[in-house]
Amino acid sequence: MYQLKYPKINFRTNPENTTIPILETQIRGRERAHLTSAAAWVAGGGLGRAWPGFSFGFFSNVGFRPAIFVADRSFAHKALVQNGAVFADRPTPLPTNAVISSNQHNISSAYYGPKWRLFRRNLSSEILHPSRVKSYSHARKWVLDILLSRLDSQSKSGKQIVVKEDFQYSMFCLLVLMCFGDKLGETQIKKIEEVQRRLLLSFGRFRILNFWPSIGRIVFRKRWEELFQIRRNEDAVLRPLIEARKVSLERHSKVKEDKNNDGDDEFVVSYVDTLLDLELPEEKRKLSEDEMVSLCSEFLNGGTDTTSTALEWIMANLVKYPQIQEKLFVEIKGVVGDGKKEVKEEDLNKMPYLKAVVLEGLRRHPPAHFVVPHAVTEDVVLDGYLVPKNATLNFMVAEMGWDSRVWEDPMEFKPERFLSGDDGGEAFDITGSREIKMMPFGAGRRICPASGLAILHLEYFVANLVWNFEWKAVDGDEVDLSEKQQFTMVMKGFTSGAIPRPLIRYCTRCNTLSIAPDVNPVMKNPLEAHLSPRF
Ligand code: HEM
Repeated sequence: MYQLKYPKINFRTNPENTTIPILETQIRGRERAHLTSAAAWVAGGGLGRAWPGFSFGFFSNVGFRPAIFVADRSFAHKALVQNGAVFADRPTPLPTNAVISSNQHNISSAYYGPKWRLFRRNLSSEILHPSRVKSYSHARKWVLDILLSRLDSQSKSGKQIVVKEDFQYSMFCLLVLMCFGDKLGETQIKKIEEVQRRLLLSFGRFRILNFWPSIGRIVFRKRWEELFQIRRNEDAVLRPLIEARKVSLERHSKVKEDKNNDGDDEFVVSYVDTLLDLELPEEKRKLSEDEMVSLCSEFLNGGTDTTSTALEWIMANLVKYPQIQEKLFVEIKGVVGDGKKEVKEEDLNKMPYLKAVVLEGLRRHPPAHFVVPHAVTEDVVLDGYLVPKNATLNFMVAEMGWDSRVWEDPMEFKPERFLSGDDGGEAFDITGSREIKMMPFGAGRRICPASGLAILHLEYFVANLVWNFEWKAVDGDEVDLSEKQQFTMVMKGFTSGAIPRPLIRYCTRCNTLSIAPDVNPVMKNPLEAHLSPRF
């Protein structure tokens, strides 16, 4: 926990960049482990934030915005859960983010207020409600078949397979279908994937635009134009899909009327369908297509690389630890029985070890090492610490899941820790509502609304991948679980990476601050494995 009362304040200049002032305060730790729990209250100096899938980030040094890093689980619980409403806001978006989010017309960047509530409630009740999630089961089966057949044909070559792209593509197929309602062909899906990725991969190039935007508009005119062009390209690909969906909705309702029946069996409500009817509460108008593009973009980015990255880490651990893979296979066999090629969704609930493997994957390798930055709307004193109004709060997800006071051997991959034993004990609460032990999806009012969907996707794909193939390490190669930072490649793999962001750490033993590089890592060497079909 950190002393955030305004103590002695030193203004100094960042030696590496004399133009950027840094404001430092004295920070006191309490009960902190050496260097693992870190926080700082620092303004400027290039402290930035980035988060996979969301258009946040770059710098916190536009204007004068302190950045607070919270690694303490109990402080996080007090802030996000016990004082949820106060800590649920988002910082003012940076100029480039405003372009990407159509002026905060998406869930993750909207201020805590009526617009956010409308968007979030719409996603949660219209798309993520369990009955609606069930209606997408044919979509999951369709994507599973695509993934298995890609892996199958590659496995026949006898060569080792790099699975990252297959995982990413599959998750994209699934989210595109949920978003636009139709099964699109490979070329079209690749086109969408390309524009989405292009937007994210360019973040690093555009950070500079957030400095002195008024002057920057002249000095960096070309780069601004580049950003607008990327956004136009995204628009050019997504907007026709929205238009096409409107037409097919009309056709569908006509067919329904004519036949006086339910029409097409394969028809599912898509995210776009739900956006068409939304009315903005304050402006009393419907969403523009530009705003719908931003919401769809968030849906696709929020749900694809996060999940495919988690999948890659989990499978890498199953390759590295064959005994865990075997134990999982035996559990699946006990439920599915011989002769069936698919692990069905209804089987998943009978597999506690599978659940434990997925939870352990999310604890040990959370796809986002930080939640999306939070803000408070007014100065708030919590636990004796002042959180100033214009501060950006960064909750350190990975550190919390690796806390040795909660987790024995925290850096080991041990799914058994999530088995509740023979007493049928309570399932692990990933929402952290009573206590935060880890928070891969965040906690409180801004918690990822899709955590249930994400876990379903992970369980379904992990189970089917292990059931259909035996995954083995490439001969002579250890599976390399080391991580690498990705500085310029936002969302490549599963990183928010994107931006070289120094992390200020406070060491309570030596009472010093140190700057560590940003770590929202991807696998240093993407998982390569030999796959032997089991059927
Ligand atoms: C393994 C997969 C996923 C992980 C680890 C993950 C993690 C997170 C985290 C850490 C946050 C930030 C919470 C905060 O700011 O406090 C978040 C927010 C969000 N996520 Fe996810 N997510 C995943 C999958 C998805 C999927 C599949 C979707 C959409 C279909 C999605 C949509 C969102 C949205 C819209 C928000 C913003 C919520 C808000 O600001 O109110 N996520 N997610």
